[in-house]
Formats: sequence, C-alpha cells, structure tokens
Amino acid sequence: MTDSARTSDGPALLAQAKALLPRAAAPYSTFRVAAALEDASGVVHPGVNVESASLGLTICAERNALFGALARGATEFRRLAVVANRSKPVLPCGACRQVLMEHAPDLLLVLEAPDGGVEEIPLRDLLPRPFLSWSREP
Ligand code: THU
Repeated sequence: MTDSARTSDGPALLAQAKALLPRAAAPYSTFRVAAALEDASGVVHPGVNVESASLGLTICAERNALFGALARGATEFRRLAVVANRSKPVLPCGACRQVLMEHAPDLLLVLEAPDGGVEEIPLRDLLPRPFLSWSREP
C-alpha cells in the first residue's frame, strides 16, 4: 500500500489491511495486527503493530495508522479496517479507541465477522461517553 492507495468499499479496505499483515513486527506475541485507515479524500493510510523488547513501548496497528495519517496531513477520516493473523474479529483496544475518538469521532470500523463476512461498527458504539479535552466534541 502506498500513500495514494484508494478504496471504495468495506471488503476492499479489509483486503488492503490483510495485505499489510506481513509488515507487522510482532516477534514477542506473534499476534500480527494490521490496519487500513481511509481518510475523507479516499486515501488509505497503513498501520501495523510494532513490538519492542521493552514491551510497554509497543504500538498498536490502529494508532500507527492514525499517527502516520496525521503526519501526512490528513485530518478527516471515514473508515478503519482492522485484521489480525488469528481470532477474528479483532476490535481495537481501549487505548486505541480513545485516541481514535479524539481525531475521528465519526469513524466506521470495518472488521472481519466470525462467519468470514464483513462487519461495520461505528467507533461511537465502542466508546460511549468518551473523555475529551482539547479535541473536538463527538
Ligand atoms: N494490538 C494491536 O495492534 N491492536 C489492538 O487493538 C490490540 C493489540 C497488538 C499489540 C501487540 O503487539 C499485540 O497486538 C498483542 O497484544
């Protein structure tokens, strides 16, 4: 995936996330996670989990995608596809829900459903009544 990757539907975004799984650096957990974040102009920003030998320094795929997107100048986001190399669907952890909410309150999560299909869940449903200070109101 490149900075200019574009997608048009949930399954396509999920497929882009799956293609990123080999880039995950997860030697300690072996739990690879990949995320594909679609911004408001259709550009898809990649993210994978990157683990550190100092385990607490690990970054999740979702925040990796968001931070990269922000660094590229994206400010509005539509959808985020998340996949892992096992146990589906994979939902963003609490820390990622918080950070995503601060930058993308209207985000739609695109996940693999247990039956192999695609499930779409609003971030708002996963983090009701979020803590917000400097960031925009949801
Ligand atoms: N991980 C993510 O990338 N996203 C999540 O939402 C939850 C957890 C990663 C962190 C760690 O590298 C591995 O999954 C096992 O927890």
